[in-house]
Amino acid sequence: MKSTKLIYALALCLIIFNCSSDSNDDLQEEQEEQEEQQEEMDPNPTAITYNADIRSIMTNNCNQCHGSTTTNGAPFSLTTYSQVSGRIDRIIARTNNASNPMPRAGLMSIELRDMIKQWKDDGLLEE
Ligand code: HEC
Repeated sequence: MKSTKLIYALALCLIIFNCSSDSNDDLQEEQEEQEEQQEEMDPNPTAITYNADIRSIMTNNCNQCHGSTTTNGAPFSLTTYSQVSGRIDRIIARTNNASNPMPRAGLMSIELRDMIKQWKDDGLLEE
C-alpha cells in the first residue's frame, strides 16, 4: 500500500516536471522564432539616430548660438542628446516656421528638416 502511493507520487512528479519543462522549451522556442523574424524583417534598419544624424545638424546649424555656452541671446544649449530630444516639439515647430525660423537666418533644407521629424517618428534613438 505504501509503495503504491509512492509510485503514484513519483509518477505525478514526473508528469508535472515533464509538462512544465516542455512548456518552457516551447516558450523559449517561440521567443527565439519571434526574435529571428524580427531580425529578418526589421521595419526600419536605417532609423535616424542622434549620434549618426542629428548631432551634426545641430553642430552645423544651431550650436553657434545654442552652444554649450549660449550666445546671441539663445535661451538654451542644444549640444547633448537630452537637451535636443527633450525639446523636440519646439525644435520641429521652429525649424519649420518660415516666418520665425530656426536657425534665424532662414529655413534649412527640407531634407534636414524632414530628418529631424523622422528622428521623432523613429523614437528619438540616441544611437
Ligand atoms: C543666430 C543664433 C541662433 C541660431 C543659429 C539658432 N538659434 Fe534657436 N534661438 C536663438 C534665439 C536668440 C532664440 C530666442 C528667441 C526666439 O525664440 O526667437 C532661440 C530660440 C530657439 C528655440 C525656442 C523657441 C520656441 O519657440 O520655443 C528653439 C526650439 C530653437 N531656438 C531651436 C533652434 C534650432 C533647432 C536651431 C538650429 C536648427 C537654432 N535654434 C539655431 C538663436 C539662434
